[in-house]
Amino acid sequence: MREGNNTAILDIVLFALAIATVRFRYTLVSAYALNLKPCTRLYRAFLFVIMSDSKHMQLAFSLAEKAAGKTSPNPAVGAVLVKHGQVIAKGYTHPAGEQHAEVDALLKAGDAAQGCTMYVTLEPCAHYGRTPPCTKAIVEAGVAEVHYAIGDPNPKVNGRGRKYLEDHGVKVFADASVAQGYAQNRAFFHYVTTGQPYVFAKYAMTLDGKIATVTGESKWITGGAAREHGHRLRNQSDAILVGVETVIADDPQLTTRLSDAHEAVKHPLRIVLDSTLRIPLTARVIDPALPGKTLIITTNQSLVQKRQQLKRENVDVLVLGANAAGQIDLKLLLDALGQRDITSLMVEGGAQVLGSFVAAGYVQEIWTFIAPKLVGGVAAKTPVGGNGIAQLQQALQFEIKETKQFGADLWVRSERKV
Ligand SMILES: NC(=O)c1ccc[n+]([C@@H]2O[C@H](COP(=O)([O-])OP(=O)(O)OC[C@H]3O[C@@H](n4cnc5c(N)ncnc54)[C@H](OP(=O)(O)O)[C@@H]3O)[C@@H](O)[C@H]2O)c1
Repeated sequence: MREGNNTAILDIVLFALAIATVRFRYTLVSAYALNLKPCTRLYRAFLFVIMSDSKHMQLAFSLAEKAAGKTSPNPAVGAVLVKHGQVIAKGYTHPAGEQHAEVDALLKAGDAAQGCTMYVTLEPCAHYGRTPPCTKAIVEAGVAEVHYAIGDPNPKVNGRGRKYLEDHGVKVFADASVAQGYAQNRAFFHYVTTGQPYVFAKYAMTLDGKIATVTGESKWITGGAAREHGHRLRNQSDAILVGVETVIADDPQLTTRLSDAHEAVKHPLRIVLDSTLRIPLTARVIDPALPGKTLIITTNQSLVQKRQQLKRENVDVLVLGANAAGQIDLKLLLDALGQRDITSLMVEGGAQVLGSFVAAGYVQEIWTFIAPKLVGGVAAKTPVGGNGIAQLQQALQFEIKETKQFGADLWVRSERKV
């Protein structure tokens, strides 16, 4: 009896908290997860509504996933329109300049959008960019309620989307899935708050941590399935970067090559760091026949004549300031890339370049492929060069977020701990 009373009191307390503010509605979900059994009918009905909210938001997240890597410099967003518990339209962000997820769903719904509830993974935009504001379209379509997963930190939005909707009589709810919303667009959030691209370091190494043999051979450390995954990751990046030594040693093309002919291919901007323009004019990365574009970053130590030769090969050459060692200043580089709307940058090495990015604290995420091989040799390179650190306490901390096996190889995705 006493236990029954306690449960009822707990229900009432949770229910009161839940309706007190929008955010507390999600205490009910937490209570459910903790297996605190509801006893009142009202409570159960309310819980049902909340669980439906979460189901619709998850659908919006899965729609956003379809757009991942294809919307830069915009975030990948998903939107669902629901009426009387039924999904009536779904949308996701199209490439920059085309419709955002909200408008995509509204266009599909037509007049049926009137009185709907919208679930969207990011606060709707309220400004004129390449397209008109989504908030205006939402209001004009007569949407009654909007639930979004996470606020947009873009200074042009940042609460203005919510305010516009509320000012026009739309009920707005911030969802409980903030962490998921952040994770899905982490590169975009970094880019809009820093003006620089989010940096992924990517390398393939052996079990003894070598990225090449003592002779510098690195093709191929991993098998076909792992390399295919590497190309899928390339396909989601805005740009891919290597040092000139990797160009000289490996002569890579740095294009995206996918075995699935139906998958849309995006070739990231190919970037080579080359302070004095040592790049051979025969390098494959500057072949004008390659799809996509190549950008060589150099300093004023390089010869103007070689710059002009490269430009004639249809290669972009950008002259930036040098650091104390006479090499490309990475801050200037990242600022310049941010100004070119590069939101994500995949740094493929080699060791010296990764050493510089790590030492400057610019690596936010690491994609490590590990092949079950041993090559040995003190002189064989490891992924991160440079001077390193003296004490373990100074080590950069990462958190392993994902691991997957591709053929015989393992892929580990780690994010920088903040
Ligand atoms: N297994 C893998 O995943 C993988 C991936 C890539 C490469 N690799 C291997 O790595 C080896 C090449 O690596 P590496 O370490 O010798 O060379 P690297 O990192 O590819 O290139 C280093 C060069 O980049 C230029 N650079 C310009 N600005 C820089 C900066 N701020 N910081 C660092 N470098 C800058 C410098 O040349 P200048 O001073 O002339 O500008 C420097 O010598 C090859 O054997 C390749 O096969 C393996």
